[in-house]
Amino acid sequence: HEEFTKVKNISTIELGKYEIETWYFSPFPPEYNDCVKLFFCEFCLNFMKRKEQLQRHMRKCDLKHPPGDEIYRSGTLSMFEVDGKKNKVYAQNLCYLAKLFLDHKTLYYDVDLFLFYVLCECDDRGCHMVGYFSKEKHSEEAYNLACILTLPSYQRKGYGKFLIAFSYELSKKEGKVGTPERPLSDLGLLSYRGYWTRVLLEILKKHKGNISIKELSDVTAIKAEDILSTLQSLELIQYRKGQHVICADPKVLDRHLKAAGRGGLDVDASKLIWTPYK
Ligand code: COA
Ligand code: NA
Repeated sequence: HEEFTKVKNISTIELGKYEIETWYFSPFPPEYNDCVKLFFCEFCLNFMKRKEQLQRHMRKCDLKHPPGDEIYRSGTLSMFEVDGKKNKVYAQNLCYLAKLFLDHKTLYYDVDLFLFYVLCECDDRGCHMVGYFSKEKHSEEAYNLACILTLPSYQRKGYGKFLIAFSYELSKKEGKVGTPERPLSDLGLLSYRGYWTRVLLEILKKHKGNISIKELSDVTAIKAEDILSTLQSLELIQYRKGQHVICADPKVLDRHLKAAGRGGLDVDASKLIWTPYK
């Protein structure tokens, strides 16, 4: 059902060492209607109306990282997999928090059906959430990502592309191609376009001889339609004798690669310890 754009209620949140201005409305339970600021525990994501409540909470909360399994660690970066069914309250809190920065997504209250991949920067005080993406346990549409968020304090540092790359690494382990759920926000689309462009053009640059969209899809786990639309938007596709032909002039590729921005943080696939959800 359609929901009209609601007026933003919570205007600021405190999370870990950050105070963050929110972007959009999020449907917190009615008892929070009179609040303009909320205080989040950065580990369990419980939220409170007053700073003193948070301070009291922090003295007894024993979480120092998201619940669930640590499935990736490289340097100070860790990724945790949280099952929405096993950690329902955490998953719901994460959705409330995320909605503050997501415009048009309907919030999934049925968190049971999703896995949440929470990216953290770790230090001696604990693992601090940087961002996350959610993924349906069983997607009929081959979605490998439902929602993606980098917290504003961490944006524009390459974490978004890391999360996107991670979602495709999971798809590769599943032996499936994937695509993000639509609609994407403007920032989401920009991030995906940058990721797709970089991954595809790096392959085209190294590859000798012909390569098909199917072959590109097999190595990258990027859905064929997304490959086609990316290459088309870069005007790298010609239609000859009823077939799509990829043109890969090295100079043209280099120009596009430069325009696609920085590569972001790399996922070291050898450090991913994970088996697909059954
Ligand atoms: N202005 C212009 N371009 C931007 C931008 C901004 N504010 N933020 C990101 N981009 C583009 C850039 O091309 C950037 O690459 P570059 O820095 O090399 O030029 C690319 O997106 C990705 O940047 P990156 O640092 O890897 O991403 P991020 O950590 O900032 O996260 C999102 C990207 C989309 C996850 C983040 O903007 C976000 O959480 N937005 C709110 C939630 C949302 O819209 N999610 C997607 C819909 S489900
Ligand atoms: Na779906």
